[in-house]
Amino acid sequence: MKIILTGATGVLGSHIMYEILELFIQKNSKNTLFIIARNKGKNSALDRINELLSSDYTPKILKDKGLENLHEYLEIIDSDLADIQDTFSEKIQDAYFIHSAGYVNLSTDEDQKEKIFDENAKITKAIFNTFHPFIKKFIYIGTAFSSGIRKGLIDNDFHNLDFTPEHRNAYEGAKFHSENFIAEQCKKLGLPFQILRPSVIGGKMLGNESTYFIQKYMVFYLLAKFFHFTAQRKNEQENVRFIINEETGLNIIPVDYVAKIIVNTFERDDIEQLNIVNDTSFNIAKGLQLIMKEVGYTNFTLIQNTLDFKYKNTIEKLYYESIGKHLKPYFTTTANEYDTTLLNSILEIPKLDQEAFTNMIRYARLRNFKDINV
Ligand SMILES: NC(=O)c1ccc[n+]([C@@H]2O[C@H](COP(=O)([O-])OP(=O)(O)OC[C@H]3O[C@@H](n4cnc5c(N)ncnc54)[C@H](OP(=O)(O)O)[C@@H]3O)[C@@H](O)[C@H]2O)c1
Repeated sequence: MKIILTGATGVLGSHIMYEILELFIQKNSKNTLFIIARNKGKNSALDRINELLSSDYTPKILKDKGLENLHEYLEIIDSDLADIQDTFSEKIQDAYFIHSAGYVNLSTDEDQKEKIFDENAKITKAIFNTFHPFIKKFIYIGTAFSSGIRKGLIDNDFHNLDFTPEHRNAYEGAKFHSENFIAEQCKKLGLPFQILRPSVIGGKMLGNESTYFIQKYMVFYLLAKFFHFTAQRKNEQENVRFIINEETGLNIIPVDYVAKIIVNTFERDDIEQLNIVNDTSFNIAKGLQLIMKEVGYTNFTLIQNTLDFKYKNTIEKLYYESIGKHLKPYFTTTANEYDTTLLNSILEIPKLDQEAFTNMIRYARLRNFKDINV
């Protein structure tokens, strides 16, 4: 079997890489994982992948196998996706193409729009157009939030709707646009495809190796990070008002579960779209209380959305002019849930209760919210 993977240096892609290598170790036939990754500073793509395969957080089964042996399954293509050429197309004939690279940026700023669209949609279209003649199937990692603002129960099909979804930011719009492009092109070409959509990715929760580990702290972790450092900096805590819809929740799903589902699903031809999400979203009010308790910022109030919100102090201003601005659309959105019947039948969804959520935040706090940049 041949698999091509993009985004292997990222939060999710690294775990997809781990799962694929585990699968190859278990299988006893000739398998190759082609990784398209770019260099960063002095570190080549190979250096970066080697770092991910030989660190404290690398799964034991891979560490036991050893770097040299793992490389028997690997071929690294050192390139930015924006400049990729099809010079290796012969080698990847009949491969599964898993496209996990993306630009996760929930910014609502107008001046970020074009970059967010280009890094997600433009690159996806370009690599699809370059590689589709050679591959067996295109697997696109979307986002459950490409559903847009919806209420009630959301099913797995986002592309046969009788309405146009309204998106909260450029990222959701670009991901939805890319999903649509892949679905339409593949149908036209008769090429099998899959769109697999995680919700907000949280730390590991399966098994007992490196529980709650995550490479980079994004989305809700960034809020925790903001108030963790604010609590440490200031003696007196100013009152911060969080504008929320008390009914709504944030859907969070552990990174190792997402990766396992992707690797369990990519060969299935009965699944074209699948949301990889929790069966219940984590209530926003509860989530904020737990985060603030964990980071030790106690002076806050939860309020309803109001049109005449004026900052009352510097911390409110700093929060709402940075991470708060981009998170607000998620905190005030209409409540919804996802239909997880099919997902749960593939692998049981781990339960994210209050204790597990607090542990995710604690894990990050104990590491000072320091990302691992390979
Ligand atoms: N994180 C979430 O909560 C979340 C939730 C739902 C869906 N998703 C989706 O899941 C996928 C993976 O996200 P993630 O969380 O793993 O993001 P991430 O940690 O930011 O990783 C992004 C990956 O994409 C690579 N990449 C981006 N642009 C590239 C380019 N031009 N050339 C080569 N590589 C490029 C990055 O490479 P470098 O390391 O070189 O930058 C990195 O490996 C994305 O499609 C995202 O939309 C993420």
